[in-house]
This record gives sequence, C-alpha cells and structure tokens, in this order.
Amino acid sequence: MAKQEDLFKNVISHAKEYGFIFPSSEIYDGLSAVYDYAQNGVELKKNIRDYWWKSMVQMHENIVGLDASILMHPTTWKASGHVDAFNDPLIDNKDSKKRYRADVLIEDYAEKLNQKAEKEIEKASVRFGESFNRAEYETTNPRVMEYLSKRNSILARMGKSLGDGDLADVKALIEELEIADPETGSKNWTEVKQFNLMFGTKLGASAESAMDLYLRPETAQGIFVNFLNVQKSGRMKIPFGIAQTGKAFRNEIVARQFIFRMREFEQMEMQFFVKPGEEMKWYEYWKSTRLNWHLSLGLGEKNYRFHDHDKLAHYANAAADIEFNFPFGFKELEGIHSRTDFDLKAHEEFSGKKLQYFDTEENKNYTPYVVETSVGLDRMFLSVFATSLKEEALEDGSTRTVLKLPSVLAPTKAAILPLVKKDGLPDIAKQIMADLKWDFNMAYDEKDAVGRRYRRQDALGTPFCITVDHQTIEDQTVTIRHRDTMKQDRVAIADLRDIIENEVSMKSWLMKANK
Ligand code: GAP
Repeated sequence: MAKQEDLFKNVISHAKEYGFIFPSSEIYDGLSAVYDYAQNGVELKKNIRDYWWKSMVQMHENIVGLDASILMHPTTWKASGHVDAFNDPLIDNKDSKKRYRADVLIEDYAEKLNQKAEKEIEKASVRFGESFNRAEYETTNPRVMEYLSKRNSILARMGKSLGDGDLADVKALIEELEIADPETGSKNWTEVKQFNLMFGTKLGASAESAMDLYLRPETAQGIFVNFLNVQKSGRMKIPFGIAQTGKAFRNEIVARQFIFRMREFEQMEMQFFVKPGEEMKWYEYWKSTRLNWHLSLGLGEKNYRFHDHDKLAHYANAAADIEFNFPFGFKELEGIHSRTDFDLKAHEEFSGKKLQYFDTEENKNYTPYVVETSVGLDRMFLSVFATSLKEEALEDGSTRTVLKLPSVLAPTKAAILPLVKKDGLPDIAKQIMADLKWDFNMAYDEKDAVGRRYRRQDALGTPFCITVDHQTIEDQTVTIRHRDTMKQDRVAIADLRDIIENEVSMKSWLMKANK
C-alpha cells in the first residue's frame, strides 16, 4: 500500500515539475480540489479530447456535436431532478471532525473484500498454472465465495437503503461493519445527511432582480434541452447521438485524490436517442464500444473492468461504470447509463413544449429513450498519465524516468536536438523544425549535453528525439531515437514526416478500437 501511495505522490510531483498540472491559484496556497493545466498538460488534455471527439463525431455519421452554455435556465435543474436529488450522503466523525461520503466508506470496505478475493484467485492461478479456470474457482472455492458474497450483499443493501432514502440504515451498516475513520480510526459517527452538490450563482445586476442560477453539474442537460433543435436542423433520424465536451461543477464533499475528484472538471458526454424498447441493445453496444476505445490506448486490458450499478441514479434503468485501476485502486472512469425517457419527458412537463420525434417509418410520434456515455476528461488524463509514468533500471546501473504515453496523445511528438550549438547544426535543426511543425507539435532544445536532453524528453513523454550531427551536413541524414526502446536509427531527413506520422496518427490508433 505504501508503495502505491508513493507512486501516486510521484505522479503528482512529476505533473507539477514537468509542467502538466499546477494547483489553482497556488500563490494564494491553492484552492481545494481545483487545478490548472500547464503548458504540457493542456496539450495532453486536448489530444485526449480530440481522440474522443474523432471516434464519436467524425467516425459516426449519425452523431453530431454541440457546445451548449454552462449557465442554463434554472428550471432545467428542477426538471432534471438535480435540485431535489443530486445529493451525496455525508457523515461526520465526531472526534476527528472530518467529513466523509457514507457510500464511499462502504464501497471502500467492499473493495477490500474484493481485493482479498483477488489475492486468493491470484495465488491459485500461480499454483494451477495454465489449467486454471477463474470462473470455476470463483464459484467453487469457499473462501473466495464468502468474500464475494459478503461484498455483494453489502453493496446491495447500501443500494437499497440509498434508493429508499433510508439514511438510518446506511449509518447502521457503517456501524455493523465497524467502519472507522480512515485517518484516525475513530468509530464515533454522526447521522448520515444528504448534501446537494450544485454550485449556485446569480444572474443580474441588482440584488432584487437577480435570478438564482446553477453552474451545470453535468453537460448532458445542455444536450437534452437542444434535442429537438438539433434533430430538426440536422434532419437527424433515430437512432442518432449528440456529443459534447465541456466544464461541469460539483461541490464535492470529499475531494482528496488530485484530479480524480475535482470541483471544476470536464466531461465528454454523448446522448444516443433510440426507439423505446431498443435501449438495452444500444446500452450493450455502447458498453463494448467504449471499452474498446479505452483498450485502443494500450494501457493494458487488466486495468479495466465493468461495474454494474447497485444504486441506480434517479434517471436510469440500467447503468455500468468502466472502472480503471488508478494508483489508489479500481475506481470509476466512465459511466454508461440507460436514461430511459426520463429527461426528455421531464423537460416537456416543466417547459410545456413538446420534445417528441416523428418516426416516418412507423408514422407516429414518440419520446425517444436515451443511452448515455459519460467520461471525465480529467480522469482520463489521470489514468493515462499515472499508468505511463515509469522508473526504469538501465543496463549501465542508472535509472531513467520515462512517461510512456500512448504516442497519439503525447503533448510533443518529436524534439529536434542539434548535437552541438555550433558548426551550423542549429540552423539545420531549426529548418527541420520549421518543416515538421506544420504537421506535428514539435520542440527544439540545444541546451545541455544530448544525454540530458534525451532524459528530459523521456520525462515529458516525447516519442521521438531527432539529433542533427556533423554527418547530417554531409548526407542529409539524422538519428531518430525511440522513447520506449531508446533505440536509435539513422534516417534521411526527407523520411522523418512519414516515420512520425506512422507512429502518432489518430487513424492507426483508433483503428485498433474497431477491431
Ligand atoms: N451525465 C451523467 C453524469 O454526469 P456521472 O457518473 O456523475 O454521470 C460522469 O459523471 C463522469 O464524469 C464520471 O465517470 C467521471 O469520469 C466524471 N466525474 C464525475 N464527477 C467528477 C469529479 N468531481 N471530478 C472529476 N471527474 C468527475
């Protein structure tokens, strides 16, 4: 565990030292759970957003984009249920005065049972080798069965209590499981209370006429209220989707995991409008399509798993998370929700405007059902960044820090390094840079010994270093060094563009998602 915590600390300090993420308004000691993306972070974040957008919008002829405003008419949030039901159950520890999410305390307890089961399964898989059958072991080994069934019944009970609004039972569960304050070990808890997560603000100049607004807690509602505008102006036929990326705001109670849980964050959401009765087919389709998109980045299949919700949100009839193995364990990365016709019906009711689709094939009007995919851009960033950060022991006994980012997402695709700062090498290097920057984000560096410059680019995640040396003057060739293998090849300057393109193009990476 200590090792995992150290790894996470490394991630945070590397992100700051190499210009990826800074605490917000740091000169004033920062603002809790709010962060700024720095010069390299903003490029990585943009590349993740573009990778998502391309796969969703450009590659689906029946999905179009939208950029709705953050501020919306306040009735939106009454209709969506957020005013009444967008709450987290919170609990305070009377001794430490620390505040926790009651559901997270219980989920963490359940996850420990899961980890115990995993440990047993891992031991058995080593013991039995090739012939090991995981599914059979999970359903026959008494110890594993006990761990998993206890975990499942805890989560099911919590789901039911939260669904029924029975907060006394949530507290009873915490007490029965003897869950203690993770920081102090105290079990002296208050009652569980609901806490609304929306940030309020005001529109208007004078106090009397000002209108109370909310900062949107999800981007999805901007899509719902524009459903008919997009459908009519784009002549969209069901099934079709509307995709959007943008900021969302939540006054999170527990926000201690760097960019995992922020108060201001970015979502990438897509609402897919379908014929009622077909939602389960599309729900399964989007579950597997989205998992394949994640897998295309090559961070390792074992780092992902599905988690079906025991506690359904007020709008859903089925929901699953794609969880990722973050440095602090498996946690939600993306949600896939079958939202029924809840949102469109609610907006019809509250606005008095019809939000229906006329199906020309069936010759009738209906309210479409919706399957949503919703992934946090910052969580994507953390999953990619933390998994890519490696300390490697080298053959000469030294170590190197290398950020093995999927090259399609790397902030800078190649760095141009003149071997020395004289003999005309910088001029050639700058000319190569001037040619390649039309196609790729490039860096130029002539400071320090070339070995140190390689190390710096490794730490920034740059897939290629191109070195201009004296031979370049004679034969128009350079060396190209590959970040992950540190292998160097001698190639013609004229071939550089194709070599880089081959490795970093979104097309070749995204094609892996469609296999
Ligand atoms: N429209 C549905 C919706 O908002 P959600 O599960 O509440 O569903 C979707 O959020 C995704 O947004 C999550 O899977 C997560 O990646 C991201 N997310 C939610 N709250 C977040 C926070 N406080 N900080 C960073 N990302 C967050």
